[in-house]
Amino acid sequence: MAAKKEWIELAQAQLDKAYVPYSHFPVGAVLVTEDEKLYTGINIENVSYSLTNCAERTAFFKAVSEGEMKFKHLVIAGRTDEPISPCGACRQVMAEFCDPEMPVTLVNDRDRVLETTVRKLLPYAFTEIE
Ligand code: THU
Repeated sequence: MAAKKEWIELAQAQLDKAYVPYSHFPVGAVLVTEDEKLYTGINIENVSYSLTNCAERTAFFKAVSEGEMKFKHLVIAGRTDEPISPCGACRQVMAEFCDPEMPVTLVNDRDRVLETTVRKLLPYAFTEIE
């Protein structure tokens, strides 16, 4: 899919924008809406470490705060040996806003790709409180 290559490149391009003075571990994300609008995200750290926001959640919060609720794809990029593995908090946020079968592309900066889904990343997700 030609579009997916562009989404991957865009997620990788976010790596240089990540604000990571403490971990030096940049992460980039691209969240694609059903009508193919793209919301980018970077991790944004803070000297008070726990205030850090992950790249994926930055992308979701940008999109949702603009009224977007229908998503078709997420790409996450890291400067890692293997395709990056998203943290548990971000998996829970994916489960909140995405269909469990939504594809998620994990990639590093050398084009090693792992294709997965929201359900595979967070099986037996907590999604209801009733
Ligand atoms: N990080 C993300 O942005 N996404 C993840 O899924 C994993 C962790 C960030 C948080 C922190 O800025 C750095 O990576 C190291 O944990």
